[in-house]
Amino acid sequence: MTPKLSPSYHIIILVGLMQVMTFVVAGEPQVPCYFIFGDSLVDSGNNNGLTTEAKANYSPYGIDFPQGISGRFTNGRTVADIIGQLLGFPNFIPPYATASDQQISTGVNYGSGSAGIREETGSQLGDRISLDRQLLNHERIIARLSTLQNNKTFTDEYLKKCIYLTNIGSNDYINNYLMPSFYPTSNTYTVEQYATVLVQQYSQRLKTIYNLGARKFVVFGLGQIGCTPHEITRFGTNGEPCVQWINDAVKLFNDELKRLVEELNSDYLDARFIFINLTSISAPQGDVPLPNTPCCNQLREDGQCVPGSKPCLFRALTVFYDGFHPTEIANTIIGTRSYVSVSPTDTYPYDISHLARF
Ligand SMILES: *[C@@H]1O[C@H](CO)[C@@H](O)[C@H](O)[C@H]1NC(C)=O
Ligand SMILES: *[C@@H]1O[C@H](CO)[C@@H](O)[C@H](O)[C@H]1NC(C)=O
Repeated sequence: MTPKLSPSYHIIILVGLMQVMTFVVAGEPQVPCYFIFGDSLVDSGNNNGLTTEAKANYSPYGIDFPQGISGRFTNGRTVADIIGQLLGFPNFIPPYATASDQQISTGVNYGSGSAGIREETGSQLGDRISLDRQLLNHERIIARLSTLQNNKTFTDEYLKKCIYLTNIGSNDYINNYLMPSFYPTSNTYTVEQYATVLVQQYSQRLKTIYNLGARKFVVFGLGQIGCTPHEITRFGTNGEPCVQWINDAVKLFNDELKRLVEELNSDYLDARFIFINLTSISAPQGDVPLPNTPCCNQLREDGQCVPGSKPCLFRALTVFYDGFHPTEIANTIIGTRSYVSVSPTDTYPYDISHLARF
């Protein structure tokens, strides 16, 4: 997410890894369940059976993942996996596509690569599970859970204690607004208007999740899309480290999303919402530049690794795995700083470790 890393970053990486390990050993999860909505940054295999270019169930994805290739769009764990471990879940939250009755009581991962807040987003790549369809899947899971638990009061109380993570919106830029040959949005809306309509739609969906029983929300802001290797190659940077106008467009969205979180916290007094600021979390800690060359040595035209291509050797020193997606080590930094913030701007109004305790 950032073109620069410094020695202090490596200390954070080490501390992060140690925290992950400590919490894994600790056992008992801090909340009974954890539900995940989003795109390829969290997808753990929901796209494997879909007809789409946006899937990652092939080598070299998963090279560092304990169970190997799973459909995750990175070399190892996603940010949702890291947060799950920090919350104390002994197993990874199962993808909706394969979740069994025995697995669903600790939560489900609905994430789908190329999906967006908008229904049409990502359609040029093929099928995907849009945020709206993820909400329908969540309704189905709640129906299954209610049948299994067979006590409505119990299920209602249970769902209130869970953490609901949403990480979506990047594709509404990458695979929509920034692709005028496939989508009319950049002709219809200015960047300001687009950020507003996206956040309005997002707001309604968060309220739907609330109406389905959620009370603890982790809302991820968008990373600096203008710093991804794919967009840098596509648009050029005019000598800057990143594509500034894309980062400026994304900042409009992030600022509005944070305001929404503030608003929801004052409108829904029995619920808590936190905002994760990826710009803060991935800000360079020093002046040592780290090339943002992707780890995969060959990329497809759409920015994913070429099947069978060779990944780099030093994956713990690389930010991007392919043209868009962070490596496991970058996901570890993001996950640990979302869980326990390092800088006061990392999370708003507090971090996941605090949210879990309420
Ligand atoms: C249903 O769950 C509630 C809340 O946990 C509990 O108080 C109640 O006794 C349960 N009802 C039955 C029939 O088990
Ligand atoms: C995120 O953090 C940065 C500081 O690193 C700050 O400049 C920016 O305003 C923050 N964004 C939001 C939406 O709070």
